[in-house]
Amino acid sequence: MIIAIDGPAAAGKGTLSRKIAETYGFHHLDTGLTYRATAKALLDAGLPLDSEAVAEDMARRVELAGLNRDVLSAHEIGEAASQIATMPAVRRALVEAQRRFAQKKPGTVLDGRDIGTVVCPEAPVKLFVTANAEVRARRRFDEIRAKGQAADFDQIFDDVKRRDERDMGRADSPLKPAADAHLLDTSEMSIEAAFQSAKSIIDAVL
Ligand code: C5P
Repeated sequence: MIIAIDGPAAAGKGTLSRKIAETYGFHHLDTGLTYRATAKALLDAGLPLDSEAVAEDMARRVELAGLNRDVLSAHEIGEAASQIATMPAVRRALVEAQRRFAQKKPGTVLDGRDIGTVVCPEAPVKLFVTANAEVRARRRFDEIRAKGQAADFDQIFDDVKRRDERDMGRADSPLKPAADAHLLDTSEMSIEAAFQSAKSIIDAVL
């Protein structure tokens, strides 16, 4: 059983995916972290972000076990991740590892940008979770403020829009809903309401 969850940055995919995985006792992989871990390893090693061969080599060394959003959340890492995510060889390397993870028993939840379209097109449940850009920027802003850190709303809003453009505009595996995905617009929905809605879709298939 594979549950594929896609959508743009800060749409609520992460929280929703964790809650679903917990509810059904499935393994969860946040595939954004695989791109972030590759980017961080390049940055830490002082390697260039514009060499596809170098980035691919790093992508092949990424260990899926123990990926942690807390150490990968920095803004520069997200920017670098979305840059290397445009490289087909990097995507091939990470998609291979993601597909292996997807086969774990008793089931898996994978979230990202291309799970329903490229990584696991065979997934029996596909959700495309979205929310308008302003709502997503507001959520990210509130999240950062809640940690007691400084945040600039306009800058976050611009980042969200730029990330969307890059993710939707790239030639390889652009962000888009699979033809058979259920759309879940959370702009005016609480996380609990989004979860209930996802649960009824999943329960109909299980
Ligand atoms: O989800 P997150 O913001 O952590 O992802 C970081 C970047 O990794 C995204 O902006 C996107 O460019 C890339 N990504 C991707 N495909 C995925 C997951 C993330 O291209 N399945």
